[in-house]
Amino acid sequence: MDLKLNIFPEEQEVLMGIAEYFVEIANQSIGKQGFFNVSLSGGTSPKKLYQLLTTPGYRQQLDWAKVYFFFGDERYVPQNSPDSNFLMVKTALFDPLQIADDHIFDVNTSLSPEAAAADYADQINAHFKNEKVCFDLILLGLGDNSHTASLFPHTAVLAEKEATVKAVFLEDQHVFRITKTAKMINQAHHIAFLLYGAGKAEAVKHVLEDPGDIEEYPAQLIKPENGDVQWFMDEAAVALLQHK
Ligand code: 6PG
Repeated sequence: MDLKLNIFPEEQEVLMGIAEYFVEIANQSIGKQGFFNVSLSGGTSPKKLYQLLTTPGYRQQLDWAKVYFFFGDERYVPQNSPDSNFLMVKTALFDPLQIADDHIFDVNTSLSPEAAAADYADQINAHFKNEKVCFDLILLGLGDNSHTASLFPHTAVLAEKEATVKAVFLEDQHVFRITKTAKMINQAHHIAFLLYGAGKAEAVKHVLEDPGDIEEYPAQLIKPENGDVQWFMDEAAVALLQHK
């Protein structure tokens, strides 16, 4: 697997590093095929990246009208909920850049969890004209418990080999999530993890250096078929790694 660790002293440099990478892959994709299909991660870490991309130094570097936005996962909440990844990205990125609605593919959480997952898979397949779904870039985060997207430890979705989008019920949080499966994520051309802070150090060690145990460390599932994986992290997040 083509894997590269991009390690920076502090959070701000991590954000600048991945912002530059985002722009590079976007322009490469637009230059090659006329558009850029990107899947965004949720949670708190990427919000600052999305806000950075809307500043003059970055926003002017690419034609946003040629970008199609998707989500790696979504919390099963209304889109006006503070927990909604869609709302976070709408506020941080879509609204400031005035992204057209028909360039945003969001999860319809007004459906049942299973129907929302099936509907999202249909939206994605239609966009890719029912050909193999290969995102140009998939952004991912890493939970302190080594989950990524909504591929949480000891959930049935980890063993999913066929479906590309699934609903997953998180027993401990008593909530549903809608998530791309590892199968779909691993079809991507480029995958980039963004994480920073000492709180991620144990998960980074488990995922990158500990023996394989996908039930405990689901992010170990991320092994692209033909693409590459880049990790964008600060020194604090890699503090426990033996090999940097
Ligand atoms: C989500 C994300 C999730 C996130 C990790 C890390 O919907 O929460 O997709 O996979 O990337 O939980 O979250 P933080 O960046 O908030 O630590």
